[in-house]
Amino acid sequence: MKILILGGGGREHALVWKLRQSPRISQLYCAPGNGGIAEVAECLPVDLKNIESLLALGEKLQPDLTVVGPELPLTLGVVEEFARRGWRTFGPTKDAARLESSKSFAKEFLQRHRIPTAHYAICDSIQEVRAALTHFHPPVVVKADGLAAGKGVVIAASREEAAQAASEMFSGKLVGTAGARVVLEEYLKGDELSFLVLSDGERVAPLAAAQDHKRVFDRDEGPNTGGMGAYSTPTIIDDKMRDWLVNHIARPVIQGMKTEGTEFKGVLYCGLMMTARGPMVLEFNCRFGDPETQPILMRLESDLLDAIEASIDGNISDAPFKWSSDAAVCVVMASGGYPGTFEMGKKISGLHEADTVEGVKVFHAGTSRRDGNFYTSGGRVLGVTARAADLQTAVQRTYEACEKINFEGAHYRKDIAARTLHKV
Ligand code: AMP
Ligand code: GLY
Repeated sequence: MKILILGGGGREHALVWKLRQSPRISQLYCAPGNGGIAEVAECLPVDLKNIESLLALGEKLQPDLTVVGPELPLTLGVVEEFARRGWRTFGPTKDAARLESSKSFAKEFLQRHRIPTAHYAICDSIQEVRAALTHFHPPVVVKADGLAAGKGVVIAASREEAAQAASEMFSGKLVGTAGARVVLEEYLKGDELSFLVLSDGERVAPLAAAQDHKRVFDRDEGPNTGGMGAYSTPTIIDDKMRDWLVNHIARPVIQGMKTEGTEFKGVLYCGLMMTARGPMVLEFNCRFGDPETQPILMRLESDLLDAIEASIDGNISDAPFKWSSDAAVCVVMASGGYPGTFEMGKKISGLHEADTVEGVKVFHAGTSRRDGNFYTSGGRVLGVTARAADLQTAVQRTYEACEKINFEGAHYRKDIAARTLHKV
């Protein structure tokens, strides 16, 4: 089989790495890919923001199956456009992807289907924001409606600060057109959980749960990022909680989408807050998470291709995944200055030494390869990931590998999974 993977980050490296293990795959392409992916798949240039560029690539390759990593091509309708041309593609259609691309759509959908989420108000002007704010107690969460690559959420300590953030969103200063509409939300307290399920439009099968670390610095300080590290263990939630999340969140979403005529196939990522009032939905993504996919796929023992095909073909079985009882941890090494401005083109050393640490796999996110060397080419550079029988050993192995890697300005959090380790 000839497979095309769209994207070029750490998530896509993990997808390529896992799919490589599938005996049914003969040719593996990734577009645009990155330096690390180029070692295991043929990388081709593409503009992920441009449907014509994606279609030209499909025309040239005629893939048997396409797996879409990031949300942007999904929101451009790549799944239905490829399907119309006879190229099987994994993921939701543009309409179904609105669960991620419009926060106001997601909130109204959750309310219609009585799925637990924070109280909210949808506002189209600063006057509406000021009026709605009288019903919220600070801190107030202010969200841009559209896609903002993790930068569209402000937690405001006061009503004035909330109004200021909303006004910057409306003016386009903060997140461009994504902020033409704003959602105000009640602030929720608790532990966050990334709960991903695979859906065939009707049925759902949960993936191993994971926890992301969104803030840039240790102890959850500093600005939000795309994700600085994640871990997954068999005990992050118990079977009872997993069934509750399937029955009260994931399945009602998939069934609600179906009854509304926008069937959702692919991976539904439920970003949850585990509050004192129970689990509540913070956000949806319509794709695999990054960096959650790295530790999740390290724990997957069954064939990912089989599961992906079952989603497309509408025949997910009761247990499409087999998970290892091991723990896995991913630490993101980022460029100096990320998530603000940063320099690129720094030479990376120690990758080979890191890969020799037991249980470690270094996934590349923002790297390029030149003359046998690797250079930084993005904010998140590497996802150093390790698997071990217990979380503590997995954490130790990951950091042992991180210490062997160097590039100018490199920084990473030293406390990935620490809160969980100290609880036990
Ligand atoms: P989102 O893109 O909606 O997931 O928001 C990004 C991050 O902002 C989340 O991962 C949370 O850490 C935080 N966040 C979003 N909504 C809320 C909320 N209602 N209460 C507290 N924190 C939130
Ligand atoms: N790790 C958060 C995301 O994938 O959106």
